[in-house]
Amino acid sequence: MAPVIRPRRLRTSAAMRRLVAETTLAPRQLVLPMFVADGLDEPREISSMPGVVQHTFDSLRKAAEEAVRAGVGGLMLFGVPATADKDATGSGADADDGVLNRALRILSDDLGDDTVLMADTCLDEFTDHGHCGVVDARGRVDNDATLERYVSMSLAQARSGAHLLGPSGMMDGQVGAIRAALDDAGFADTGILAYAAKYASAFYGPFREAVGSSLQGDRRTYQQDSANRIEALREVRLDLDEGADIVMVKPAMSYLDIVRDVAEIADVPVAAYQISGEYSMITAAAERGWIDRDAAILESLTSIRRAGASIILTYWAAEVAARLG
Ligand code: PBG
Repeated sequence: MAPVIRPRRLRTSAAMRRLVAETTLAPRQLVLPMFVADGLDEPREISSMPGVVQHTFDSLRKAAEEAVRAGVGGLMLFGVPATADKDATGSGADADDGVLNRALRILSDDLGDDTVLMADTCLDEFTDHGHCGVVDARGRVDNDATLERYVSMSLAQARSGAHLLGPSGMMDGQVGAIRAALDDAGFADTGILAYAAKYASAFYGPFREAVGSSLQGDRRTYQQDSANRIEALREVRLDLDEGADIVMVKPAMSYLDIVRDVAEIADVPVAAYQISGEYSMITAAAERGWIDRDAAILESLTSIRRAGASIILTYWAAEVAARLG
């Protein structure tokens, strides 16, 4: 009788499994998204994301320093302006004293080149209607008028010390417009982490609370339809042609096939964003004792790496970096 072929031999001990593991997870691959809000006296818990807060400037500095000390690869900053400061064009986004630009300057002063400082380049936190762009008379998001706002916002973020800009609004031509403007203004070294394949997703729900979003309706005229796969490749190819330095897929866990597809065509690093709803689902199930929290977190991150992302944005970045040591 032929001998039984035994793959299980390579699973016999933790040491053996470690020896043959195909996928690794390292602190430098993890990027921590952080929220900083204007007008807070102390950090505010985000109820739909237990463990994540809207920071004050002081608590932001402290948490950023801790994350960098834990070894994370970078920080991605989101600004939360006071409601009274929101308007139709999102003026707070490119104002040098807007919450996000102020926070960038503070962290840039504190951390310099010790980390990679990234900024969300999008208007949704700053507009009173909550859309990622400016809206025309008929209520539609105007692509090319929005590009002008993104350019202005990008220059403000570059001046404020961001190393990488993260245009996340899914306007056509956003990477090219931003790249050209950065180059013209002498910011050739400021890079672009392009949200290249970003899907309209129900899993962004908790983020809307995190940034105090004013959005009514949805973003389906600019973010991608979850039914589509080929379209993601087109979006990525366009962003690469327009000069993206890193391309990102978002969300991560429901889109691991897209992460794999993109990893196969991109000749730049591929990032994936484990978004708010992914964080909240695992957190909620763990709170109920339904799953093992720490194991589920590591498994989720490992699966995103296995799919082909070399960089992962995750609200667990600092915690996991510290755990991995
Ligand atoms: C847009 C932006 C969003 C997220 C990151 N950038 C929200 C959206 O597109 O509705 C979502 C991040 C998350 O859910 O964790 N500025």
